[in-house]
Amino acid sequence: QAWTARILTLFPEMFPGPLGQSLAGKALEKGIWRLETMQIRDFATDKHRTVDDTPFGGGAGMVMRPDVVDAALAAATGDGLGTKGNGPAIYLTPRGRLLKQDLVQELAAGPGVVLLCGRYEGLDERVIEARGLLEVSLGDFVLSGGEPAALALIDACVRLLPGVMGAEATLDEESFDAGLLEYPHYTRPAEWKDKKVPEVLISGHHEKIQSWRQAQSEETTKLRRPDLWDAYLKRGAAGDR
Ligand code: ADE
Repeated sequence: QAWTARILTLFPEMFPGPLGQSLAGKALEKGIWRLETMQIRDFATDKHRTVDDTPFGGGAGMVMRPDVVDAALAAATGDGLGTKGNGPAIYLTPRGRLLKQDLVQELAAGPGVVLLCGRYEGLDERVIEARGLLEVSLGDFVLSGGEPAALALIDACVRLLPGVMGAEATLDEESFDAGLLEYPHYTRPAEWKDKKVPEVLISGHHEKIQSWRQAQSEETTKLRRPDLWDAYLKRGAAGDR
């Protein structure tokens, strides 16, 4: 059974979007993963197919109704509150747990994901509780809806699935796995706009190249992401690597 992303959205036309192209698109055609969209509006019960309403307590915007979203989730997960063969049910929201590569790896290793994309100002809190939704955020910024976040999360998972990346080696070399940012990359021409490629990379001396890249990764991480650098040092001290 192929890894499956099941998406609950008011805008199913947004999918597969960019995931129909390139690496993910080819893997989709090959059947390495599956994409299913479900229109949340199909689970509305009134004749106007209402999915949202004004917030209790007042304020701007609209809130997605818990009963409608619950019915959509029930259909998506074959009901039962658990995750069963679907993988976790995730609600994409800036209030969620920050998405990191370790969660991406967990999700990619499982059967798939059920992704709930919100619109409007939010989702009634009770359906989050009732369904035990895992709230996930892409970062400290606000998208107009969960769909672009769902696309990003799926892309990050799909590239880890066996048989998706052309050269499997490129995955193993990823410095991010070690907790560091990538070292800089260069290709031809060896000189461009008076800028030369670092000598060591032309030397053919593989050990020197490796240690140069390691040093570059460390410097960049220290400078740009002191939070990652601290974690890297702590991991080393704990002897996890
Ligand atoms: N929906 C709106 N903003 C988001 C974000 N930053 N991450 C995930 N989902 C979102």
